[in-house]
Amino acid sequence: MDTKTKRGLRQSLNRRRFLKLGTGIGAGLALGGTGLAGEAAARGKHAKGDEFMEIMHTRRSAREFEPTQIPDDHLQMILDAARTAPTAGNQQPWKFLVVRDEKMIDRIRERALEAQLGYRIKEEMGDEAKATARRQAEDYVAQCTSAKTFVVVLTDNESNYPSYNWHDGPLAAGYLILAARSLGYGSVYYTDSISETIIKDVFDMDDRYKVVCTIPLGIPKEWPAKPDKKDLADLVAYDSL
Ligand SMILES: Cc1cc2nc3c(=O)[nH]c(=O)nc-3n(C[C@H](O)[C@H](O)[C@H](O)COP(=O)(O)O)c2cc1C
Repeated sequence: MDTKTKRGLRQSLNRRRFLKLGTGIGAGLALGGTGLAGEAAARGKHAKGDEFMEIMHTRRSAREFEPTQIPDDHLQMILDAARTAPTAGNQQPWKFLVVRDEKMIDRIRERALEAQLGYRIKEEMGDEAKATARRQAEDYVAQCTSAKTFVVVLTDNESNYPSYNWHDGPLAAGYLILAARSLGYGSVYYTDSISETIIKDVFDMDDRYKVVCTIPLGIPKEWPAKPDKKDLADLVAYDSL
């Protein structure tokens, strides 16, 4: 077997392993930067359709991450993919607020904990129940804010067609999440766990921007199991409902 064929086989095996196992290969990716997208870019080709389908089907919402930072070039690739999303009249109303400063993440964490305590602790609860609820809130928020990089997806209310921003915002977020998966990273689309109110307060944002969601990026501690998904037949109708 010549060197080129051996390299091709090795790359193909690595791709399979990272899509299956995620964490291990993800860790390698963060250090070495040899992911699917990297390989495809190096070959000057796009990923094949079946590989892309595999990326979509193996994406999972991950909420707890290794304490490893995403390399800058991977972050740039992910953001660059997000901005290729379809957008009404090509208006591109997005702003991607990248949060990597530990101090800002701490502030998000504090505010997320306050919110969780508010949801979980009720006046009428006894002391023991309150203490349990507090511990659960602390654990939950520690997980939710464990990533070293967050991307807040915003849309600009001063865009050309602001009434279409609610379409454009989640599309870019979806692209971003899939691009992250293609490089072996986990993510999740937070709306409540890290809410718009929290983000607006922490970053002292005025009304110009709407917070679409906040997305942590990192190597998941583990890839969550696939939740129940409806059958395709339950979701599809042909020609009439
Ligand atoms: C609009 C939207 C809002 C979401 N908000 C949250 C959230 O606040 N907290 C959270 O943990 N997950 C949130 N999620 C993630 C969903 O819980 C997750 O996508 C769903 O359970 C399906 O799991 P999967 O993404 O692994 O397929 C949100 C997802 C979407 C699309």
